[in-house]
Amino acid sequence: MKKLMLFALCLTFMSRFVCAAGNEIEYKYEPTPEILKAQKEFSDNGFGIFIHWGIYSMFGQGEWYLNYGPKADEYAKAAAGFYPARFDASEWVKAFKDAGARYVTFTSRHHDGFSMFGTKQSDYNIVDATPFKRDVLKELADECGKQGLKLHLYYSHIDWTRPDYPSGRTGLTTGRDSTLRDWPKYYDFMNRQLRELLANYGPIGAIWFDGWWDHDFEADKFDWQLPQQYAMIHDLQPACLIANNHHENVFPGENIQIFERDVPGENTAGYSSQDISSLPLEMCQTMNGMWGYKVVDQNYKSVAQLIHLLVKARGIGSNVLLNIGPQPSGELPAAALERLKGIGEWMSKYGETYYAASPSDFPAQTWGTSTRKGNKIYVHILSAEGTEINVPTSAKVKSARTFEDGSKVKFAKNKDKGITLYLDSIPDAIDHIVELEIE
Ligand code: GLC
Repeated sequence: MKKLMLFALCLTFMSRFVCAAGNEIEYKYEPTPEILKAQKEFSDNGFGIFIHWGIYSMFGQGEWYLNYGPKADEYAKAAAGFYPARFDASEWVKAFKDAGARYVTFTSRHHDGFSMFGTKQSDYNIVDATPFKRDVLKELADECGKQGLKLHLYYSHIDWTRPDYPSGRTGLTTGRDSTLRDWPKYYDFMNRQLRELLANYGPIGAIWFDGWWDHDFEADKFDWQLPQQYAMIHDLQPACLIANNHHENVFPGENIQIFERDVPGENTAGYSSQDISSLPLEMCQTMNGMWGYKVVDQNYKSVAQLIHLLVKARGIGSNVLLNIGPQPSGELPAAALERLKGIGEWMSKYGETYYAASPSDFPAQTWGTSTRKGNKIYVHILSAEGTEINVPTSAKVKSARTFEDGSKVKFAKNKDKGITLYLDSIPDAIDHIVELEIE
C-alpha cells in the first residue's frame, strides 16, 4: 500500500524532480498540521548547535580529509583506534542548553561514510568498527530527552567509501571500484539507515541532508529520488522537518531552508545565491573555520562576533546553527566551551528579544538590526558611531526604554519616516538593546 502511495506521489511530481522512469514529475507537497506546528517551534527556538564528529576527528584535519589523499581502506583503519574515552553526552547537552541552544544537529553519517550510530546496514559504524562499541547517538538522544533539547540529524547523501555510491564531483581519489556503482542499492541502503534513525532514537526534530551538490543537476540530470525519501521520512515521523543543504531554491517537501556560512540575503561564502523562501530559515556557521575538528584551526570567532551573528540572523528571521567539532577524545574544545558560556550569559539576559522574535518592519541598518514580538520592537545597536540612532520603522512608537534597566530613552519622530533615538553616550555593550513600545 505504502509503495503504491509513493508511486502515486512520484507520478504527481513536476518541477526539478525527475522520476526513476526519466519523466519530469510535479511534487505537490502540502505541509501537515504536525509540520506547521514543528516549523513554528523550530523558528521560535532560534538557536541550535551543529556537531561534526566522526573518525575524521582523529586526523585533526577537518571532515573532508578523506577527499584529499587517503585511500578509503587505509583511512578506515582509524576506526580500530577510535575510543573517545571522554565522551559524555550529559555534559554536551548541558553545555548546549546552558548556552541557550534549543536543539542539536548531529552528524549521523558524513561524506566519509562512517556511521556514528549503531546501524545494521553496514559494519562501518561506531558500535561495530571501534573498540568503543557505544552507540554515541543513542546516548545523545537519551540525554536530549532527559534535559529537553531537540535532536536533529545531519545525514550526507554522499559516500566516499562505498563503491555503490555513484560518485559525482568529490571523493574521486579514495580508491573505490567505480564499476560497482549501483544507485538502487545505495539508495536502498540510505533509506534503511534513515528508517533506523527515525525508529531508534526517539523523536527527531529534523533530518538535515547534505551533498546534493555532488552531482550537477543541469549537467548529469542525476536523480536523487528525494521526493520518495522525503515522503518516507514524513510518513515515519510526521513532525520531523526536512532540510537540505543543496544551496538551491527549496525543493517541494522541504520544511526548512538552509543557508551555509551566510546570513540569508548575503553571499560572502559563495553558497547562498538561492532565493529566500517563506519557510523557516536556518543559517549554519563554524565557530572557527572548519566543521570537523582541525588541529591547526584555532581561529575562533569571539563571543561578541558570535552574538552579533545571532542577532543579525534573528533580525531577518533566521535561526543560527552554530558548529562545534569535538575532539577525538569526545571532549568539546575548550575554546568552543568558552564561546558557549559567553553566548549563554547573553541569552539568559537578553533571550527575550531573541527567542520567538520575528523581524521587525525595517531591514538591518549600519548600526545594527531589530527584532519584534507583539507590540515591542527591540532595537539591537551593535556598532553605533554616534548617539543618534535613526530607526526607520513605520510603526507608531509610544515609548523607548533601555532593555537592560528600563530607563527611558529620548526619541523624536522623524520628518519623513520613523524615529531618532537620542542615547546618552555611544554604547559599548556587545548589543545595546532599546525596547520600543508600539501601537
Ligand atoms: C558543506 C560541507 C560539509 C559540511 C557542511 C555543513 O556542505 O561539505 O563538510 O558538513 O557544509 O554545512
